[in-house]
Amino acid sequence: MQNIYDNNKFFNEYIEMRNKDINANNLIEKPIFLSLLPCLKDKKVLDLGCGYGDLCKLADTDGATKIVGVDISKNMIDLAIKTNSSNKIKYIIKPMEKINEINEKFDFVLSSLAFHYVENFDKLIKDIAKLLHKDGYLIFSQEHPVATAFIPPKNKNIDTKVDIENKRYYLLSDYNNNGIRTVHWNIDGVKKYHRNISTIINTLIDNGLQIEKVIESYADDETIKLEPKYKYQNDRPYFLFIKAKLL
Ligand SMILES: C[S@@+](CC[C@H](N)C(=O)[O-])C[C@H]1O[C@@H](n2cnc3c(N)ncnc32)[C@H](O)[C@@H]1O
Repeated sequence: MQNIYDNNKFFNEYIEMRNKDINANNLIEKPIFLSLLPCLKDKKVLDLGCGYGDLCKLADTDGATKIVGVDISKNMIDLAIKTNSSNKIKYIIKPMEKINEINEKFDFVLSSLAFHYVENFDKLIKDIAKLLHKDGYLIFSQEHPVATAFIPPKNKNIDTKVDIENKRYYLLSDYNNNGIRTVHWNIDGVKKYHRNISTIINTLIDNGLQIEKVIESYADDETIKLEPKYKYQNDRPYFLFIKAKLL
């Protein structure tokens, strides 16, 4: 497993991007994620890949009784403790691959933009199902499979995207070839895992989770006014969101 957020160059660029008002997290990902969340008052919440803890803090403000934030990155957990602490929130440095070591149950497991870093999705979902109370919810976002699928050709002169008549056309390949993708994002060598939609959905179903809602990211007119390039969300979404209940 890779801990890219403890690479200081990567971390500093990521935080710089997150500190801007206009970014895909603030304008697209967070509003859609929050639209899937009910009030968390009196609930126990686990946030996987919690980053600097903004969702944990939101759960705390909402009145959750206990919140556990788990992240592989010490940089992130240090920042979470500094900026989003509360006596109800416990932050743990731990990879999601080891959540089977947590010995308690939760009403909600949340995860925002972190599952695509985990290789073994079936194990992750099995572990989450064991951590949820019956009728508990898993709500997560991840990079959309149409965005993670592509493996670039060796020939670097080929355009991988082209703008025609106000639309963006992207090259797509390897959609059904699940597995690792190594990409440049702030630095070279960032490892992510592509899974097609049927793998994601069937893994949830096979582990006793009933899907209640699926959203693919989009940009509304207000968002496009703030950042015109987000109109391309409507040609190819960045993010996938799923809300599922443990039966
Ligand atoms: C894109 S950030 C999102 C952070 C936070 N959820 C948010 O939305 O602000 C991805 C987070 O996942 C964490 N992460 C990546 N791989 C992980 C793993 N295997 N186990 C736990 N956390 C991981 C990273 O350290 C990082 O904090």
